[in-house]
Amino acid sequence: MKILAIETSCDETAISLLNISGNAHSPRVVILGNALFSQVAIHEQFGGVYPNVAKREHAKNLPILLKKVLHESGLEKKAKKSLISQRNKRKAEKILEREHGLYNNLIEYIDSIRKPHFDAIAVTQGPGLEPALWVGINTAKALAVLWDIPVFPINHMEGHIVSVLAKNTSKEKLLFPNISLLISGGHTELVHSPKLGAYSIIGKTRDDAVGEAYDKVARMLGLPYPGGPHIAKLAHSSRKKKLKNHWEFPRPMLHSNDLDFSFSGLKTSVLYSIKNKKLSKRDIECVAESFEDAVTEVLVTKVEKALLQYPSKMLIVGGGVASNMHIKQALMNIKEKHPRITILFPEQSLATDNSVMIGIAFYIRYRNRNLKTNKTFKASGNLGF
Ligand code: KG4
Ligand code: ZN
Repeated sequence: MKILAIETSCDETAISLLNISGNAHSPRVVILGNALFSQVAIHEQFGGVYPNVAKREHAKNLPILLKKVLHESGLEKKAKKSLISQRNKRKAEKILEREHGLYNNLIEYIDSIRKPHFDAIAVTQGPGLEPALWVGINTAKALAVLWDIPVFPINHMEGHIVSVLAKNTSKEKLLFPNISLLISGGHTELVHSPKLGAYSIIGKTRDDAVGEAYDKVARMLGLPYPGGPHIAKLAHSSRKKKLKNHWEFPRPMLHSNDLDFSFSGLKTSVLYSIKNKKLSKRDIECVAESFEDAVTEVLVTKVEKALLQYPSKMLIVGGGVASNMHIKQALMNIKEKHPRITILFPEQSLATDNSVMIGIAFYIRYRNRNLKTNKTFKASGNLGF
């Protein structure tokens, strides 16, 4: 089945064309084309993501990326004459008008090529920044009208869970029951899944997300946005040099009776510890290591607790922070206590936001006959499972 997938929930504009086959537990995923534009450099100057800046950039780049992905996958074949009805063009225009004409010549471009053979369009509905989500949704709806194919809203967090299957050649298989740890700039959640397509959140952050804490601490240390990879690098360097100068940071909610997290106190503790101090490069490396150690201990402890409460065959880790090697290693060590558990991480390049995961989430739901759609679905910033 050929799927066009679109993701614009935060600061990555992504579109991909996938050919997915096989059963829902273990789909075979072939990436025919994949284009992604990261707005990181644009948001870096503000130290965070502004929704309206993100929206403008998505609208500017989505048509460019669509063209690229069609070209890459050999599906951009010039049409000899226009094949799209005036009625459908008007409908698409009306949908795109909602974005104040930000899309440059999208309809003219689609009208200039032959209809490519896709079976469906999958687009992120939420959670995320609503103005940003709308750009992807309206583009998807307009394309669905122009090409006369169905469009389906997909949950971004479900995408992160199934992102572990992105390079699958039918070897990886989802096992149930399972637990997912979703750690990104916007979310920190533990999700229990008793069967395919069924999820319940069993723990979440009460304040900052892990990635957000990384980004905020990085900012305090004068590092660029997004700070996660920079802190990780400094922490790694400190560990390698065996710098002993450790900083005492708290492990918030480590022994709480629930599976919730809190990272705001940890971030504040870093702030007070370094306030009015002139830090050397070595100090900064040590702060990074001590901060990362605190985060890691909390994550591992909560996952272990979750596995005791919800015995599982599989642990899935997703979201941008899943690409952190130290956290990854510490989570892999859980196998010592749970030797029968399978632990899956996404490919490094597909841990952060991407559209491949959105296409996979769609396929799994489609095969599992677990899809809801209507032509009027809306962006949902706080979409839950
Ligand atoms: O999943 P993602 O791309 O976007 C959201 O949905 O938030 O995650 C981005 C987050 C950022 O906060 C970034 O600092 C963090 O993931 N991140 C990392 C690493 N790589 C990205 N945090 C820690 N270590 C890393 N290696
Ligand atoms: Zn994400």
